Amino acid sequence: MDFSIKAFNTKNAIAQHKAGCVAIGIYENGKLTPAAKALDEKGSLTAAIKTGDITGKAGSTLLLHRASGLAQRVLLVGLGAEGAVTDRNYSSAAQSIARALSSLGSSDVLLALPLDIVKERDAQWCLRTLVLALRESVYRADGLKSKKDESKSGVKKVVLAVDTALQASAKQTLMQSVALANGMDLSKTLGNLPPNICTPTYLATTAKHLAKEFKLGVEVLDRKQLEALKMDSFLSVTNGSDQPPKFIILKHMGGKAKDAPVVLVGKGITFDTGGISLKPGSGMDEMKYDMCGAASVLGTFRAIAEMSLKLNVIGVIPTCENMPSGRATRPGDIVVSMSGQSIEILNTDAEGRLILCDALTYVERFKPECVVDIATLTGACVTALGHHNSGLFTRHDDAHDALANELLAAGKASNDTAWRMPIEEAYQEQLKSNFADIANIGGPPGGSITAACFLERFTRKYTWAHLAIAGTYWKSGAAKGSTGRPVPLLTSFLIQRAKG
Ligand code: BES
Ligand code: MN
Ligand code: ZN
Repeated sequence: MDFSIKAFNTKNAIAQHKAGCVAIGIYENGKLTPAAKALDEKGSLTAAIKTGDITGKAGSTLLLHRASGLAQRVLLVGLGAEGAVTDRNYSSAAQSIARALSSLGSSDVLLALPLDIVKERDAQWCLRTLVLALRESVYRADGLKSKKDESKSGVKKVVLAVDTALQASAKQTLMQSVALANGMDLSKTLGNLPPNICTPTYLATTAKHLAKEFKLGVEVLDRKQLEALKMDSFLSVTNGSDQPPKFIILKHMGGKAKDAPVVLVGKGITFDTGGISLKPGSGMDEMKYDMCGAASVLGTFRAIAEMSLKLNVIGVIPTCENMPSGRATRPGDIVVSMSGQSIEILNTDAEGRLILCDALTYVERFKPECVVDIATLTGACVTALGHHNSGLFTRHDDAHDALANELLAAGKASNDTAWRMPIEEAYQEQLKSNFADIANIGGPPGGSITAACFLERFTRKYTWAHLAIAGTYWKSGAAKGSTGRPVPLLTSFLIQRAKG
């Protein structure tokens, strides 16, 4: 899908634009937006509204042929009540346009919707919402089907209409939105790939390709190097697997050489059986998504590299499989992490924290500005927050409150929200072990919180946040597939940071 920006004004009118289709907005009271009015010279749009065929309710659509101007078709889209268009209204209109265009016999469209009508959202937000909705509608996960899913969208060329005054900033926003969509696509594709293809080695190869294409720094550590680093907690998770573990380091150094980097750490369990603490069979296939923290980091790097973001960012991905076998780690085993803290592994299914803790110790060497880890550590997080918000955990001091607020704001700005959860000393007590410094589980109460408390003990040398994405990264059931979250949140956070 090819996107471009076109500026319109009184001399260069929308009615003079030749297109297979022009999409315009109408409000619930039947009132036309300015662009729609401009196209209604012969009154044919007003006439169509009078028939009652379109209400203007957010997301409703009506397709008219040769209704006005040089457009072969006009797609009327409902925006909701005038003066009270919410972000949900606008998103739903964007999705309806994407759906309508998917069955259109035309290959090009002009989107001439107002960009200044959503409360507390700017034109940049509206543009990004349109681009992401269209890109989402053409995403396919049919690479392994012998008969491809019908290619629904006929629309290949999308022109976004803006006022002349907005032209320059809209071009920048469009470039960033397309880069974000590309990053989300990469993340989704990695998540949806089966675990026999998307192995730790596959993730490492993907990182290397990405590095080559965008001139990023890349390093992949193998088992021997991990042993030398004393990452015995990480390595304990790989014991039962025949797939070699990998430790991926990606560097996008777009900022000043002396600026401390933002570090992203992603959990990369390419399949989580639970190990000896084996998971029940039903729905276990979805544990192929247990690498989605890693996929989010790779997708975010794809996005920020394409936009040449002026910021130093380092991505770190510990990746392996969690399998049962005669060599697998047992419940009761005690290992010593890279930090020196000993861990009693009471449940081999709480493996995410075991690979992350060593990665979180490793990143100390970068003297980071801050560290954000992204992971699917617990089903309890889904119970707590459902599928709408990712969980956000940090310590509760001024520096961490500031980081948490930045991440929450980035989530709001990018329609990819998170909700803050507590980390408190009282919960830490649940991780007491009689035989080691710490146990790897804290019992059923507050399961997502004790998981974050575990990580917290390995992050005391820098400012740190944990993003829990088990509820937001993928959908189950008939709509099974990855969502690409939290790539929008992370990208938006980094763009904001780059502005300083
Ligand atoms: N990858 C899972 C978490 C998960 C489960 C995410 C279901 C999404 C859906 C993680 O490794 C895990 O198994 N966590 C355990 C922790 C428990 C043993 C303390 C869980 O949630 O049951
Ligand atoms: Mn597990
Ligand atoms: Zn897991």
